[in-house]
Amino acid sequence: MFQVPRGTRDFTPDEMQKRRYLEHNMAKTFTSFGYGEIQTPTFENLELFTAKSGESIINELYAFNDKGGRSLALRPELTAPVIRCYVERLQMEPKPLKLFYFGNCYRYDRPQKGRYREFQQAGCEIIGTDTCEATAELLALAYTLLKNTGLKNIRLNIGNLTLISAIFKKLHLLKDDQKILLPLIDKTQFDDLKIALRDCNVSEEIINEFLDVLQTSDINKIRSFIGEDHDAKTELSTMETILDLLKNAFHINEYVLKLSIVRGLDYYRGLVFEIDAPVLGAEKQLCGGGSYDLVSLFGGTEVPTSGFAIGFDRTILALEEEGFRFPARKLDVFVIPVNQTMNTTAIQITQELRSHDISADFDQLRRGIGKSLKYADARHAEKVIIVGPKELENKTVTLRDMKTGAQEIVTLTDIHTKLKEI
Ligand code: HAM
Repeated sequence: MFQVPRGTRDFTPDEMQKRRYLEHNMAKTFTSFGYGEIQTPTFENLELFTAKSGESIINELYAFNDKGGRSLALRPELTAPVIRCYVERLQMEPKPLKLFYFGNCYRYDRPQKGRYREFQQAGCEIIGTDTCEATAELLALAYTLLKNTGLKNIRLNIGNLTLISAIFKKLHLLKDDQKILLPLIDKTQFDDLKIALRDCNVSEEIINEFLDVLQTSDINKIRSFIGEDHDAKTELSTMETILDLLKNAFHINEYVLKLSIVRGLDYYRGLVFEIDAPVLGAEKQLCGGGSYDLVSLFGGTEVPTSGFAIGFDRTILALEEEGFRFPARKLDVFVIPVNQTMNTTAIQITQELRSHDISADFDQLRRGIGKSLKYADARHAEKVIIVGPKELENKTVTLRDMKTGAQEIVTLTDIHTKLKEI
């Protein structure tokens, strides 16, 4: 017996129905916000991913050499590939350039519920603007995308790396210290963070204040802790404008300012954010994003960039946990010939319905009406057409409603108009 590789999954037609529903739903929202779809290759040159993060990232990648000796990697995410494509082909496009994507990603993670080695992301990048209105719209888009899928309970948490840097500067922490501290903040391991800060000779009083500021949503508390740092003060007032727009122009009130959101990836700077689905427990992060720098690293002319990605698989899990009723997979019509001499007519009727955009299938196992009706029921057929010799003499068939069991005689020429009406 063969099994799927560890951390990967097959998707049955019922599961694919849910995934396609979600894709259509999200594509509609992206499009309504003025985004255009982009697709990049599943694998890239390995260097694309090590350029910012260094060689250590290779442990988390599916990296390999091809037969020509090229170092390649299955993409772990799509931001670097999309920016590579931008630098290669799209730099002359009018700005802002709004790109969205769906794509499989590959990470050599330890698999568990909601965490896979092959998973899908739905995401977007906006290139060429970092105005408050653009950033507020990005946050609104992430929130709206998830809400539009049917999710009820999500939490938008907004952080800022410029403010975190200002705090580190105030505490006289060195770059090397920050490399140890940031992952602890990212994973909200506050006890370990306390120990690490003590090791950096930060006083007990300041440590407690710092932990307080990391968890508060009170912008004034953050302001008074940061003090006179000019960049941080400007960033704080920018944040205020963004949050004001989010609330008053996009009418989104359900967000929390949370400086402990620092994001794991190396390319971020400035505003960062995450959206959680509390219903998921351990792997509850549905979406992550923010503003970042990659364009100049990839040889392009510096422009502001930001974006986010949503874990497609986790969104489905969250919808399921919330008891969301996905649209069922259904068949409009199942056509049953009462005997084999009716086969050709049954096929002709099926084809005629298909040509009118009605999903239709016919019995291909030559079974009796009883068994065929059972099969039609299992396929969630809405209607059944029974093709019998007597009715056919009058150019009619029997149309049966599978929900009510009601039957009526319908003329052959009327079938598709009748079905379309229904
Ligand atoms: P990320 O936070 O690494 O960000 O991934 C985004 C989302 O992908 C996560 O919030 C999570 O829902 C999902 N995800 C990540 N790893 C796995 C996994 N192993 N199994 C299932 N789902 C997973 C990025 O990838 C950035 N490129 C987002 C971005 C776009 N930033 C700016 N632009």
